[in-house]
Amino acid sequence: MGYVFPHRHLLGIEQLSREDILFLLDEAEPWVEFNRRARKQDERLRGLTQFNVFFENSTRTLFSFEVAGKRLGAEVANFHTVGSSVQKGETLIDTAYTLDAMRPGVMVIRHSETGAPHQVAEVVGCPVINAGDGTGEHPTQALLDALTMRRRLGRIEGLKVAICGDIRHSRVAGSNLKLLPKLGAEVRLVGPAALLPDDPCEAAAYEELDEGIAGCDVVMMLRIQRERMEESVSGSLADFHALYGLTLERLDRAAPGALVMHPGPMNRGVEIEGALADHPTRSAIREQVEMGVAVRMAVLDVLTRE
Ligand code: CP
Repeated sequence: MGYVFPHRHLLGIEQLSREDILFLLDEAEPWVEFNRRARKQDERLRGLTQFNVFFENSTRTLFSFEVAGKRLGAEVANFHTVGSSVQKGETLIDTAYTLDAMRPGVMVIRHSETGAPHQVAEVVGCPVINAGDGTGEHPTQALLDALTMRRRLGRIEGLKVAICGDIRHSRVAGSNLKLLPKLGAEVRLVGPAALLPDDPCEAAAYEELDEGIAGCDVVMMLRIQRERMEESVSGSLADFHALYGLTLERLDRAAPGALVMHPGPMNRGVEIEGALADHPTRSAIREQVEMGVAVRMAVLDVLTRE
């Protein structure tokens, strides 16, 4: 008998073992090739209703979960707070009860409050997938990042990965900080002191970009959250770029052929130079989006198997 995934929900990387993570990555692999076909339709989720419940804006995560579900044959319905009764004051839990009464087969949830998907998972009758909660976790992002690294560099074990920028407020960093060490990668955190986390887990922290990325195989840039700049970092966005913006020239300090990643959305000219983001061989940013569909197909399939 094959590996039996032991979790009903996907709420965070924290809950997953190394074996769980490798299983999900292996499950995603065939969907990469499937998605490159001109015509792509699988029927394994036929009859399943998938609710995408987004209390926060999203381009990549929302749309890729929708595409993933539809390519597997699910009926996909998207719930947005704009135009919903959330705007009349209906609570998260009352919204969850209401949607659950329509008997979905799976719910995908993004919310600005850390722990919101966990609260919903307690009260609904279907699997719940965390699509990003506050400054908590974004587990499918870390899984797609890992799949991208593994496919581009052939391994994760032993890689040196620098995560740079606004780490303190980033749920992407939160999930990668948990996933990468489980697969044997060494993680470094790079950013101004005000944007580094209080608890860096086992990662080494650097306040100098050139020092932090030296010899790294992967440089993962994070979005500077402009709305939080004033309270956390003094100086202009141009000052930030001068100190912490990744350019092709600065990338020379990393390992030869180092891969540049960014979960998006990115601020071109702030944390990353536009030409580097578009670089045909060094940037994996668009490939990350592609891997996102494959990973979300795998997660939807695995969690809803009977
Ligand atoms: N990476 C990511 O979560 O992007 P979106 O906010 O566009 O979904």
